[in-house]
Amino acid sequence: MEAAALSRIGLAGLAVMGQNLALNVAEKGFPISVYNRTTSKVDETLDRAHNEGQLPLTGHYTPRDFVLSIQKPRSVIILVKAGAPVDQTIEALAAHMEPGDTIIDGGNEWYENTERRIVEAENRGLLYLGMGVSGGEEGARNGPSLMPGGSYEAYNNIKDIVEKVAAQVEDGPCVTYIGEGGSGNFVKMVHNGIEYGDMQLISEAYDVLKNVGGLSNTELAEIFDEWNRGELESFLIEITADIFKVKDEHGEGELVDKILDKTGMKGTGKWTVQQAAELSVAAPTIAASLDCRYLSGLKDEREDAARILAAAGLKEEVGTVRSGIDKKRLIDDVRQALYASKICSYAQGMNLLRVKSSEKNWNLDFGELARIWKGGCIIRAVFLDRIKKAYQRNPNLASLLVDPDFAKEMVQRQAAWRRVVGLAISAGISTPGMCASLTYFDTYRRARLPANLVQAQRDLFGAHTYERIDREGAFHTEWTKLARKKA
Ligand SMILES: *[C@@H]1O[C@H](CO)[C@@H](O)[C@H](O)[C@H]1NC(C)=O
Repeated sequence: MEAAALSRIGLAGLAVMGQNLALNVAEKGFPISVYNRTTSKVDETLDRAHNEGQLPLTGHYTPRDFVLSIQKPRSVIILVKAGAPVDQTIEALAAHMEPGDTIIDGGNEWYENTERRIVEAENRGLLYLGMGVSGGEEGARNGPSLMPGGSYEAYNNIKDIVEKVAAQVEDGPCVTYIGEGGSGNFVKMVHNGIEYGDMQLISEAYDVLKNVGGLSNTELAEIFDEWNRGELESFLIEITADIFKVKDEHGEGELVDKILDKTGMKGTGKWTVQQAAELSVAAPTIAASLDCRYLSGLKDEREDAARILAAAGLKEEVGTVRSGIDKKRLIDDVRQALYASKICSYAQGMNLLRVKSSEKNWNLDFGELARIWKGGCIIRAVFLDRIKKAYQRNPNLASLLVDPDFAKEMVQRQAAWRRVVGLAISAGISTPGMCASLTYFDTYRRARLPANLVQAQRDLFGAHTYERIDREGAFHTEWTKLARKKA
C-alpha cells in the first residue's frame, strides 16, 4: 500500500467545536488529521469532511497513528474539556511526539494550568500554546477569533494556518500572537468576562424597554435591528433582534417569553471577577453580571420573595412610572445608556488585562486585542475599532474613559444614562450592570472621594495612619482622646 501523504496539522477532541475547527482548517487547504478516543466521533467528522466538500481530512483511531500521520515539526490542537481531560490527552499524544513538536490547547483553560503544562512540555522538548478560541460552533467552522499564547516558535509554525482559519476583518485576520505563558487563555477569560457584561447590559435594556416602556417583542426586534445599524452594531445586538422574532411553536406569542429566567455559566466569568479582586482592579459591571447569574439561579427563592414582599405591602411602582413615559425618548435614552455602560465595562476588562500584563511581563498590545475581537468572537462589534484606535493613540492609556474620543462620548450620553437608571430605580426594575457602570464612571471621574473619612476611621480604630493633602508623610492621630477631651 502506498504511504499516505502527511497532514500539515492534527486535531484531537471531536466534539462539535473540534469538528468544526478541523473542517475549517481543511477547507482553508491545510490537510488535517483528526483523532478521538470515541471512534464514532472520527467517523462522524470524516462524513462531514466528505459531505462539506471533499475536504482534505484524515481520521485516525489510535494516538500513535494520529501523531505519526502529521508532518514534522508536528502541531496538534487539542479541544477537550478543560482540566484533567487535557492532561490525559497530552499524556496519550506526547508519548508519540518528538522534540520540536507542538501541543496547542484550544479550550477555555485556566491560565495557570497552561503555564504548568508549558513547563512539562519543555521537559519533553515539546512546545506549547494555550489558545483562546471564541465564536462558538459557528465561529469555529467559519472563522473564529483566536488568542494563542505561549511559545512564539510554536506560533510561527502555525501562523499561516491560523491566519487563514481566523475570521477576517478589514484590518487583517482575527488572530495575533498574544504573549508568553498563559496569556492567550487569560485574554480569552477576560473576553468572556466582557461578554458576560455585554449580555447583562443588553438584558437590562430589554427589561427597561419592555417593562417601563411597554414595548412588545415586535417593537423590540425593530429597535434592536435599528440599533444594529448604528454605534451599537454588534453580534450580540444582532442576535438579540432575531431572538425577539421567533414564535413559540408550542403556544401563543414569542418563544423568548417562555424561557425560564435562570442563566447557566461555565466559570470564565467567575475567574475574571476573581482575578480582578486578586489584582485590586475594580470590575463592578462584570461582577454585577456574575451576581445576576447567581441571583437568577434562585428562581424559587425569588418567587417566594415576590410573594412575601407583596403580602408585606410592597407596591409595584412600574405602572405609575410607565404611564408618564415618552416612549420614543426612552428608547433613545436606553440606547445611549447601553453604549455608555458598555464603554465602562470594556474599560474594566482592559484595565484588568493591563495590570496582569505588567505583573506577568506579557507586553500585551491592547490595540491588537481590540482588533482581533472585531470579528469571529461573541463580543465582535464595530465599536472595538474605536478601542483599537484609542490604544493606538496612546498605548499607555490609563483607562478608556480618559481617551479624548471616549471621554466626549461619555459626556454626551451621561444625561440620558442618568435618566434611564433613575427611571429604572424609581420603577423598581433592577439594572445592576448599568448602575455599576454609572457609579464606576462617577467614582473614577471624581477628583475627591469620601475615602478621607474611611482613612480616618481606619486610623482611629486600627492606627493604620493616613496621608495628608497638604504635607508629606504618614500621620496618626489620637482621634477619640481629642474628640472627647473636655474643652
Ligand atoms: C472524544 O470524544 C468523547 C465523547 O464525545 C470525549 O469525551 C473525549 O474527551 C474526546 N476526546 C478525545 C481526545 O478522545
